[in-house]
Amino acid sequence: MNHHSSLSPRPFPFLSPDLTHQERTMHAVITGAAGFIGSHLAERLIADGWTVTGIDAFTDYYAREDKEANLAGLLQEERFTLVEGDIAHIDLAPLFADRPVVFHLAAQAGVRGSFGESFDGYVHDNLIGTQRILEHALAAGCPRVAMASSSSVYGDAEAYPCLEGVTPTRPRSPYGATKRMCEDLADIYRGLGLSVTSLRYFTVYGPRQRPDMAMRRLCEAANGGARFTLNGDGLQSRDFTYVLDAVDATVRAGTVANVPPILNVGGGEEATMLEVIATIGELAGAPLDIDSAADGKGDVRRTAADTGLARAALGWQPTMGLREGLSRQLEWVRARQLVLAVR
Ligand SMILES: NC(=O)c1ccc[n+]([C@@H]2O[C@H](COP(=O)([O-])OP(=O)(O)OC[C@H]3O[C@@H](n4cnc5c(N)ncnc54)[C@H](O)[C@@H]3O)[C@@H](O)[C@H]2O)c1
Repeated sequence: MNHHSSLSPRPFPFLSPDLTHQERTMHAVITGAAGFIGSHLAERLIADGWTVTGIDAFTDYYAREDKEANLAGLLQEERFTLVEGDIAHIDLAPLFADRPVVFHLAAQAGVRGSFGESFDGYVHDNLIGTQRILEHALAAGCPRVAMASSSSVYGDAEAYPCLEGVTPTRPRSPYGATKRMCEDLADIYRGLGLSVTSLRYFTVYGPRQRPDMAMRRLCEAANGGARFTLNGDGLQSRDFTYVLDAVDATVRAGTVANVPPILNVGGGEEATMLEVIATIGELAGAPLDIDSAADGKGDVRRTAADTGLARAALGWQPTMGLREGLSRQLEWVRARQLVLAVR
């Protein structure tokens, strides 16, 4: 698999003349750098020769230790710096000055947790956080922001696959509504001259996946962890996207010219939950015992992405098959549990 883009980032001539060539062309900011996708993105950029400033607040949605483990390799890298802070509060101006691209991934994720009192956190991280990122990127003269949106903006569509600009956006969860509003904010700042692209990620999986996500919990159940509870009949399906494929699309969205405002990023490997459960059982060598529960609140029946626009605009295509990707995630869960066992 080749995840190294042949498209090199372009220099931005209006940045300060005092900067070194490297700083002018290849110093990125990543928000949410300690998270699942953000840490893989940072590793990819470092491997490509970039300098990276990562920002993360280590929110308590899941354990700080998990996020520190995500960063372990990066913190050994001279070209990686971590700023611990909340994007809704910290002084972003010095961090954004003269940076050619901001990758904005920090958010409160998760569909079910967005109902009830915890919506407050979604408003803070997703709405206030994103508005500040866009405001300060514009003020600092950052030419490009590539930011994480979500397939959840579509809700239950009338026709599949979902197509940007054609399929109506009708989120079914407060989380999806915040992501939809972030896209609206992006539109407002685009109108003011900021080049910003919202990437609608479709269920991203692989090593370091968040502990609340189904595949992570299934891999843990297959490895002696808590039994998995399946919501609904198991015939709900998702367009699963391997994390390095999502990262490759993200890097390209931050570096190629003329990126459309909204892009679907889907792996093209649609599968039902029952199929995923069966595959993980096969990979683990024994079928999984599953408990059943009602439909998950806010969960949609199906997601499927038309990725024609992302393929054309970014020269991107997903390369990881679902079975191989799941086997890599299972291996990662096993290795992690071995480390935890000897502590
Ligand atoms: N994982 C998926 O399947 C998926 C699908 C669609 C969209 N997304 C989006 O992709 C992005 C990354 O998701 P992830 O799965 O890696 O989540 P994650 O929770 O692992 O990473 C998000 C990181 O952002 C940080 N963060 C949150 N609020 C912050 C704030 N106010 N200031 C600074 N840091 C803050 C968290 O501490 C965390 O480390 C999110 O925007 C998410 O909504 C993810």
